[in-house]
Amino acid sequence: MSLVSLFICVLLRLALQRNKPPLILNISSFDHKQVREVSELHKLCFDEPWSEQLFTTLLENPHVCGFLAHTSGNELTGLLLGQITPGEAEIYTLATHPDYHRQGVASHLIEKLIVGCLPQSVQRILLEVNETNLPALKFYEKVGFIAYGRRKKYYMSSSQHYNDAILFELKVK
Ligand SMILES: CC(C)(COP(=O)(O)OP(=O)(O)OC[C@H]1O[C@@H](n2cnc3c(N)ncnc32)[C@H](O)[C@@H]1OP(=O)(O)O)[C@@H](O)C(=O)NCCC(=O)NCCS
Repeated sequence: MSLVSLFICVLLRLALQRNKPPLILNISSFDHKQVREVSELHKLCFDEPWSEQLFTTLLENPHVCGFLAHTSGNELTGLLLGQITPGEAEIYTLATHPDYHRQGVASHLIEKLIVGCLPQSVQRILLEVNETNLPALKFYEKVGFIAYGRRKKYYMSSSQHYNDAILFELKVK
């Protein structure tokens, strides 16, 4: 491909992205039959993905709830897994397929969690994020979470260094 056509392709891609129609998403509950496709998505999103077995075990806990986002063409674009107990909820993992970033997938999943929290008198939703995960830090701040603390050297990075966890909460009542 010549430099000119490469340049045109890049311009077209940018123009298409700008005019992209809003993504139509179907948000459903995460069923244990879907652990394989969910763990495949997790692999695309994290350096240390969770196994099918781990998802299966977590889903056996009655307090654990999960939501999946599919496109109208039934492509899995996002997942959220967390726990709702009376008074408090916690997000264990949240991820959007890399091809669908910045199209509202994670925002829709958080919205669904908040709605799921209402009957349980949940007052706050908690989570922790690696201090180096800038997209996630920006995302949680954008959707209204407030950083309230820091857990020192909570995550071990691959190079034997440790990173802090930033603790976030969203007050829902
Ligand atoms: C963090 C993550 C879940 C966000 O998912 P997403 O579906 O792209 O998020 P949304 O489209 O709903 O973003 C909503 C807003 O959050 C902010 N945001 C999201 N990603 C951002 C980024 N990379 N940089 C800056 N701001 C960002 C923006 O304000 C965005 O709104 P805008 O696109 O209109 O500007 C996604 O980047 C991801 O899956 N990362 C890898 C897995 C991960 O780190 N998960 C979190 C671990 S706790």
